[in-house]
Amino acid sequence: MDDPKFGWQGMHLDVARHFMPLPFLYRFVDLLAMHKLNRFHLHLNEDQGWRFEVRKYPRLTTVGATRAETVFVPGSPGDGTPHGGFYTQDQLRALNAYAKRRGVTIVPEIDVPGHTRALLAAYPEFGEGAEGAEVPTGPGVFEEVLHLSDETMAMVEDVFTELLDVFDSPWIHIGGDECPTAQWERSDDAARLVRERGLAGVEGLQPWFTEHLRDWLAQRGRTTVGWDEIVDHGDMPEAVVMSWHGREPGRRALAAGHQVVMASNVPYYFDYYQSDSPDEPFAQPAPSSWQDVASFDPVAGVADEHLPNLLGIQGQVWTEFMTTPAEVEYMAFPRTCVLAEVAWSGPVEPSELEPRLRAHLRRLEAAGVNHRPLEGPHPWQRGGEGRRRRPDGHGPALTAAQIADLANY
Ligand code: ACM
Repeated sequence: MDDPKFGWQGMHLDVARHFMPLPFLYRFVDLLAMHKLNRFHLHLNEDQGWRFEVRKYPRLTTVGATRAETVFVPGSPGDGTPHGGFYTQDQLRALNAYAKRRGVTIVPEIDVPGHTRALLAAYPEFGEGAEGAEVPTGPGVFEEVLHLSDETMAMVEDVFTELLDVFDSPWIHIGGDECPTAQWERSDDAARLVRERGLAGVEGLQPWFTEHLRDWLAQRGRTTVGWDEIVDHGDMPEAVVMSWHGREPGRRALAAGHQVVMASNVPYYFDYYQSDSPDEPFAQPAPSSWQDVASFDPVAGVADEHLPNLLGIQGQVWTEFMTTPAEVEYMAFPRTCVLAEVAWSGPVEPSELEPRLRAHLRRLEAAGVNHRPLEGPHPWQRGGEGRRRRPDGHGPALTAAQIADLANY
């Protein structure tokens, strides 16, 4: 009988930093189902691109879905190539139904009130001084965030109304991460909102916003999920906390009565290096090997009485440095296989897992999945010799011929 250790067996994919073609989302669902993972957290907007069609706000996709080029390393030249793409509501509705038939719930995320520069490029009136702003080309955490006026709140509700019409997930992710208050601190209008809403200061604005959206979603029968910043200024009862700054915010949130998903950056951020080999493709700096994923105990330090509220675990694939499905697969596999093992059975000794993992990789090969070999980075699979490493910056992705060679693309 199936008896998973954790109910929430999740994988996340950022389709905003780099747009991923719709067929790959179907394939990603298939790969999750193959690994008996049951949550697909679809990260639909970022500073660098808006990917969800909103009929009431067409500029979100006519303007916000495209950036002029991509700068992979701040200060280095861009690639000179416009990048963009978005999904229609009908496309996502069909994807949602497809995933549901395979036992996978798509948990959509619209990340607010930070990470919204693409939105502000399209509709500067929802920010402050955002007129003329463009969709940013490079990575970073930006000061420009939503100005939380009544007009902005109405827009946010409109966007989520359309999101709820597409996705029937009981959980709706509102982001909430990395929202600097610098702009609000300088703003007379933000000071007025603080006074009108009876808040102690601008730090109260985001909790006020989260509470508002949480209640709005609850009235529509949905549960709010947010990154762990949503409890930085106190509890947010009834919201699920996704703990990404390691396990500690999750442990604190559990102690305060929250439901929690452990999405700890180390080792569950699969955009991080897979080893310290200089041959690994350009990635985020903290190595997180498949062995780290295997031996990491997501419940370490969690009191027994809090375990029922620990919904489960999730791997994250942020795509700042992944430009193609083949690169996503290379970073996601085999770590996703190992995450599935932990989600079902708990942490495992890498040496015990290795023979089973090696056998499983033959299944991935048969399915044409571009995975990192256990022996180490493979120059062709990881994206070709042309893909340079730090500190030189990011070189070209797979050539068209190499992509065509990978089964299913
Ligand atoms: C995050 O990595 N900003 C959730």
